[in-house]
Amino acid sequence: MSDPQLAVSDLHVAYGPIKALRGVSLHADAGETIAVLGANGSGKTTLLRAISNMLARQQGRVRVNGADTAGVPAHKLVRDGLLHVPEGRGTIGRLTVRENLRLAYDLRPTDQSFEAALERVFARFPRMGERISQCAGHLSGGEQQMLSLARAIVNRPRLLLVDEPSLGLSPAMVDEAFAVLREFQASGMTILIVEQNVRKTLRFANRAYILRQGLLVASGSGAHLLHDPGILSHYLGAS
Ligand SMILES: Nc1ncnc2c1ncn2[C@@H]1O[C@H](COP(=O)(O)OP(=O)(O)O)[C@@H](O)[C@H]1O
Ligand SMILES: [Mg+2]
Repeated sequence: MSDPQLAVSDLHVAYGPIKALRGVSLHADAGETIAVLGANGSGKTTLLRAISNMLARQQGRVRVNGADTAGVPAHKLVRDGLLHVPEGRGTIGRLTVRENLRLAYDLRPTDQSFEAALERVFARFPRMGERISQCAGHLSGGEQQMLSLARAIVNRPRLLLVDEPSLGLSPAMVDEAFAVLREFQASGMTILIVEQNVRKTLRFANRAYILRQGLLVASGSGAHLLHDPGILSHYLGAS
């Protein structure tokens, strides 16, 4: 049997005395979409930052394609195919749209040209073509979110970690963001999504985990959790 694309075991992360993750274990198989849901402050962002080695862990193991990531610099993980689209966009405000995309492209060289990669972005987001020479910091919130997803279009990771892609978007733009994520899914990308938009995410993900105060308290198929009102209301306050 092949290794799961992502395997996290017994992960502990603390900020000084604050224990943000207290022994989290999960996995994603190649091509699978998993979701981590949980209330504000439950540790979702910490989990993604620890997986992408932007935060040190106190204990536990993360394996990507079977290889332990301990001590591997974050940029090396990106080159090996792990891209983290952080909460709050993750674009560089004083650089132009083109420069932001170029950075994402250069982090993971492939045989496709940058110009070809840009064409794929423009096909999906014509707006990015109009804004290509503007500083990212001058874009609207929704456009910045488009740009952060466009980074994934040019980078073409094998494993995408995406933190609250729908945060702050209008309903139409939320649909747009999920449409792009569905294209990634259809291309065979493995996705770990963190979201507050519970129902939409459960319909999107193959499986989901529920995080509460740094512990995973439930998991199951998206369809199963979607139809378990007890779990949703108890842990997520969703009616
Ligand atoms: N930089 C930080 N310094 C201290 N505590 C933090 C920091 N970032 C997050 N925390 C705390 O860690 C816990 C988990 O936060 P976070 O991972 O951001 O949760 P979520 O993304 O689910 O809202 C919270 O109690 C939060 O206050
Ligand atoms: Mg968060």
